[in-house]
Amino acid sequence: MRSVSREAFVERIRQGDVALSPELAAAFAEVPREVFVPDGFQRRDGSWAGPSDADFLDLVYDDDVLVTKVDGGTPVSSSSQPSLMALMIAALDVRPGHTVLEIGAGTGYNAALLARLGASVISVDVQQDVADRARSALARAGAEGVRVVHGDGYAPPGVRVDRVIVTVGVAGLSPRWIEQLGDAPDGVVVAPVEHAGTHPVLRVTRDLRARVVCPSGFMTAAGPLTAAHPFPAPAMPRTLTRLVPYAEGRFDPPLEPLAYRGLWYAAGVWHRRATYAAVPRHEQNCLMLLDEERTGGAIVLPDGSVLAGGGEADRYATDALAILDRWLEAGRPPLGAWRVGLGPGGDPDAPILLPSSWELTSG
Ligand SMILES: C[S@@+](CC[C@H](N)C(=O)[O-])C[C@H]1O[C@@H](n2cnc3c(N)ncnc32)[C@H](O)[C@@H]1O
Repeated sequence: MRSVSREAFVERIRQGDVALSPELAAAFAEVPREVFVPDGFQRRDGSWAGPSDADFLDLVYDDDVLVTKVDGGTPVSSSSQPSLMALMIAALDVRPGHTVLEIGAGTGYNAALLARLGASVISVDVQQDVADRARSALARAGAEGVRVVHGDGYAPPGVRVDRVIVTVGVAGLSPRWIEQLGDAPDGVVVAPVEHAGTHPVLRVTRDLRARVVCPSGFMTAAGPLTAAHPFPAPAMPRTLTRLVPYAEGRFDPPLEPLAYRGLWYAAGVWHRRATYAAVPRHEQNCLMLLDEERTGGAIVLPDGSVLAGGGEADRYATDALAILDRWLEAGRPPLGAWRVGLGPGGDPDAPILLPSSWELTSG
């Protein structure tokens, strides 16, 4: 099999606007990602890429998610996008000697990177076969100091840890993770937490205050971690009524993806029906205020134009325009401008800590 340049891989990750520390760059250059996907993964076109395919290594060392397990057409395990992993690991501020709890072992690749940074890792996966494969891959890669555990990450092994990293989308945090951080003053949980149909990554400190690190679109966790969703589930294109132009665009050029995510996040703070919708002729999913019938409402496109439809089209379109005005008046706050407070909620038998208050800061 021909080789690929891992240095080029590191450069590709940097192009995703990620400032890699020398240690993290070395980890990406040294840990062989292909060892963690021995059975291949799904290509973007739906076909399966295997190790004997000519494009296998190019795909492995692209800055892209590798979906390694699909159930009924839905991805249920993967190796996340490397630039996203890099942003999350940087926010985790992991140091040699730390003990890190990872929720969502997946392929084991992220755990191997953490181990390469000098951490001891306990990595939990809810799927037995996935946990077994991650364990084997870590052994083949020679990663030391990683323990893979099969189980629901809501209730992981109760050991004291310095950091918690969650690599699957959750509605809120397990209170046990906070307990496991003990009294370490700098203990943090980095987790993609549901907000308006997507999973912005939060960096949560022990006082249950958080900042938003970056946008993400993780697969959702099984069990109590997603039992309660304060936002509507994403709109299904099949069930949506025809949405027609309601207001013209106001951004020329259209908002860049990160700025659009900033608008989207604000919409989720200000409107409880904010979620996402796939819109024909638009590559990326779009912000939608979905009506209670789940068939109509209003969509805000990256150029600021509004489409609306359904029985309450006027009401939702008016709300969408008010959100746009408010976001502009606030000075177009980016994701990082929000400070989030978490509070108890979810299933009373298995409570989780959900975002419950939001505040805008100037920076
Ligand atoms: C995106 S993958 C994790 C990627 C992984 N960190 C890697 O480096 O390859 C998400 C994983 O979370 C697992 N998962 C889903 N719900 C879970 C839960 N409640 N507890 C633990 N793992 C869970 C899935 O089985 C899946 O393997």
